Amino acid sequence: MKVNWSIEDAEKGGYEHFMLKEIHEQPKAVQDTLLRRIDDDGRICLDGISLTKEDLQNITKIYIVACGTAYHAGLIGKYAIEKMARIPVEIDVASEFRYRDPVIDEKTLFIAISQSGETLDTLAALREARSHGARILSVCNVVGSSVARESDDVFYTWAGPEIAVASTKAYTTQLVCMYLIALYLGDLTGNISREYYDHILEELLAMPDKIQQTLDKAPEIEELARHLYNRTQVFFIGRGVDSAVALEGSLKLKEISYINSFAIAAGELKHGTIALMEPETIVIALATQDRLFEKMYSNIVEVKARMAHVVSVAKEGNDKIEAESTEVIYIPQCDDEVTPILTVIPLQLFAYYVAKIKGEDIDKPRNLAKSVTVE
Ligand code: G6P
Repeated sequence: MKVNWSIEDAEKGGYEHFMLKEIHEQPKAVQDTLLRRIDDDGRICLDGISLTKEDLQNITKIYIVACGTAYHAGLIGKYAIEKMARIPVEIDVASEFRYRDPVIDEKTLFIAISQSGETLDTLAALREARSHGARILSVCNVVGSSVARESDDVFYTWAGPEIAVASTKAYTTQLVCMYLIALYLGDLTGNISREYYDHILEELLAMPDKIQQTLDKAPEIEELARHLYNRTQVFFIGRGVDSAVALEGSLKLKEISYINSFAIAAGELKHGTIALMEPETIVIALATQDRLFEKMYSNIVEVKARMAHVVSVAKEGNDKIEAESTEVIYIPQCDDEVTPILTVIPLQLFAYYVAKIKGEDIDKPRNLAKSVTVE
C-alpha cells in the first residue's frame, strides 16, 4: 500500500499551512484559556498566580516586557491593567529593557510575556528584574520553559503547540490572559465594580463565537488579498488599543508576505507620515473604538482626501464609515476594551492570503525563527 501524505500533512489537519490551521484554532484556544480560569461562582481563579491583596498593596509599578508579537499583546495589557487596576504600567521590548538600567525594586511587578518561554532577550530582562528584587509573573505557552521556571508566578496560555513562525493563536490567548490579570488586579485593588467585572467576563466568554463569526469572513478577505497582493507598501493606522493592533497587523503582513508595512497611531499621521500618502496608497484603518470613533473618522477623511485606498475595520452597524472607505471589514459588536481579540483576525487572514497568493513560504518565512535563543 502506498501512503501519499507525510506526517507533517497529517499534523496540518487538512489545512494547507500550519498558520491557517492555527488561525482557525483560535475559538478553541481562547475558550480553553478562559474556561479553566473561571469558577462556578463566575469569579476568576488564576491558577499559578499566588499574588495576594497584601502583596499587591506593596506593588507601586508594573513592567511588561516581551518581544515581537508578545510585545504587542503586552501593549494591550498595559491599557487593560492601567484602566482596571489603576497601577502605572511601563512596557518595553526586552532587548531595550535589559540594557537601559530601568528603575526596579521589590515594589515592582515584572510581567514577561513569551509564547516559547525561551526567547533570550526576554529571559535576560527577567533575570535583570529579578536581580533588583522584582516579583516575576510570566505569561507563557510552553509548560516548564525557561521563562516559566524562573518566574514566581506563571500564567499559561492554553493555545496548544504553535508551529508557524508567524504567531496567531498565541497572541489572542495572551490577550485573554492580560484581560484576566487586569480584571483580577482591578478586583483586588477594589477599582472596578462587580458589574464591570461581570460585564467584561461575559464579553470574554462571548469571544470564541465572535472569533468564529469573524473567521467566517475568510472568503471576503481572500478576495481583498487578491486585489491588493501586488502592492509594495501598506500602512496600518488606529487609535487607542487599535494602534497596538495596527502594529501586530503590520508585523504579520511584513513577516510572511515581505510587503513593506508600517503602523502608526492615527493621531501621529500629521507629524510626518501623511507626507507619504498618494493616490492608491493602501491604508488599513482600524476604527473599532466607539469612544474614539469621531477622531479616527477624521484621520480616515484625511488619508482619503489624498486618494488613499482605505480598508477599514469597524464594528457591525457602523455604516458611517462606508462613505470614506474603499472597503469595510466588519467585526461583531463588543465592548471597546476587548475588540483587539477580534480586530486582529482579519489582519491575520489578510497577511496569510497575500502571502499565499504571492507563493511565499508561509510557515517558514525567510530570515525568521520561531524562537530566538540568541542575541
Ligand atoms: C520570534 C517569533 C515571533 C515571536 C517572538 C517572541 O521573533 O518569530 O513570532 O513573537 O519571537 O517569541 P516568544 O516565544 O518570546 O513569544
